[in-house]
Amino acid sequence: PSGLLADRLGRPLHDLRISVTDRCNFRCSYCMPKEIFTNDYGFLPQSSLLSFEEITRLARIFVAHGVHKLRLTGGEPLLRKNVEKLIEMLSALRTPEGQPLDLTLTTNATLLARKAQALKDAGLKRVTVSLDALDDAVFRRMNDVDFPVADVLAGIEEARRVRLGPLKVNMVVKRGTNDHEIVPMARWFREHYDGQVILRFIEFMDVGASNGWRMDDVLPSAQVRQRIHEVFPLEPTAPNAVGETAQRWRYADGRGEIGLISSVTQAFCGDCNRARLSTEGRLYLCLFASQGQDLRSLLRGGASDEQIAAAIGLIWQERGDRYSELRGAQQADAGSGRRRVEMHYIGG
Ligand code: GTP
Ligand code: 5AD
Ligand code: SF4
Ligand code: SF4
Repeated sequence: PSGLLADRLGRPLHDLRISVTDRCNFRCSYCMPKEIFTNDYGFLPQSSLLSFEEITRLARIFVAHGVHKLRLTGGEPLLRKNVEKLIEMLSALRTPEGQPLDLTLTTNATLLARKAQALKDAGLKRVTVSLDALDDAVFRRMNDVDFPVADVLAGIEEARRVRLGPLKVNMVVKRGTNDHEIVPMARWFREHYDGQVILRFIEFMDVGASNGWRMDDVLPSAQVRQRIHEVFPLEPTAPNAVGETAQRWRYADGRGEIGLISSVTQAFCGDCNRARLSTEGRLYLCLFASQGQDLRSLLRGGASDEQIAAAIGLIWQERGDRYSELRGAQQADAGSGRRRVEMHYIGG
């Protein structure tokens, strides 16, 4: 395969997001609300999960198709047993030009203080930590398992100490729930890390079918920016890469930058170059897809690398997804009536 694969809208394949478990030790209401994700919820059995060998084989094929970035997600990826072994296997992959990949993961950081060194040693390049508030009471309410914020901050410290950087922090903003934490979060990450940690504000999205999404709960990124700008003046800054999720804004005083991920008010489907591999090996081409293509049965049915590569190539070339843009245009068929896949299963 060549690196020139493009979908129906001319978008290349650049990132692969790999969900390594559908389980999580948090119950964030916007992702895995407690009422639905109870202890006896039907999580995937071990035999359904792709093995590390299977994931690595698929990743190698995706890389041959032009993928440059691999992100492990979940659920909570650090809950997958021996995940550092998988990272070691993935970190050995090279692009067709012989370059190492951007290899990263998105974590709630509950296990990060314990695992940062092992992850670094295994070849992980950087991490992104999800953190929705600094205030302990607000944080405990949002993760809904009463988990203390101090342990997440300790995880961030340890990731910094072992140089798992540049570090990013993702805050999902819900109006009326944690929007009063926007400025304190901005202040904390400016002042404690002197511009070395990039804080990103994410608009609460209508992923899945369980999180009770309402437009009223969305605080548009433009308002997030305004609130920060009033205290710490911001200036726009150029993107790092085509198809990036976040718009970058830097502090006028030079103390770093923030990102705004505005999937609801300013869709970024035009350059979307991400594919998603679910925990059980289905390929999803959009965060809001209702159906994935089963790659596991190809793997387990004895298909050759060439056959799998050809199948992935065809799937990508057929792709025309642009859900967020359609939602923005208020097209009635933008996903209504279909049961969309849940975030914890494809990892965002
Ligand atoms: P970087 O490589 O650090 O820029 O990471 P990223 O922004 O690609 O990934 P991350 O896991 O940090 O995702 C940040 C937020 O953007 C999460 O809420 C994701 O669910 C969301 N997100 C990631 N990719 C997409 C996408 O293709 N479409 C939409 N609508 N949201 C996305
Ligand atoms: N809207 C926006 N972001 C979400 N995330 C999970 N669910 C949602 C949602 N409904 C975020 C997580 C994590 C990232 C991968 O996705 O907090 O940072
Ligand atoms: Fe877990 Fe992340 Fe979902 Fe929260 S958002 S429940 S931490 S996977
Ligand atoms: Fe890509 Fe779908 Fe997100 Fe649009 S909504 S940016 S097509 S994943």
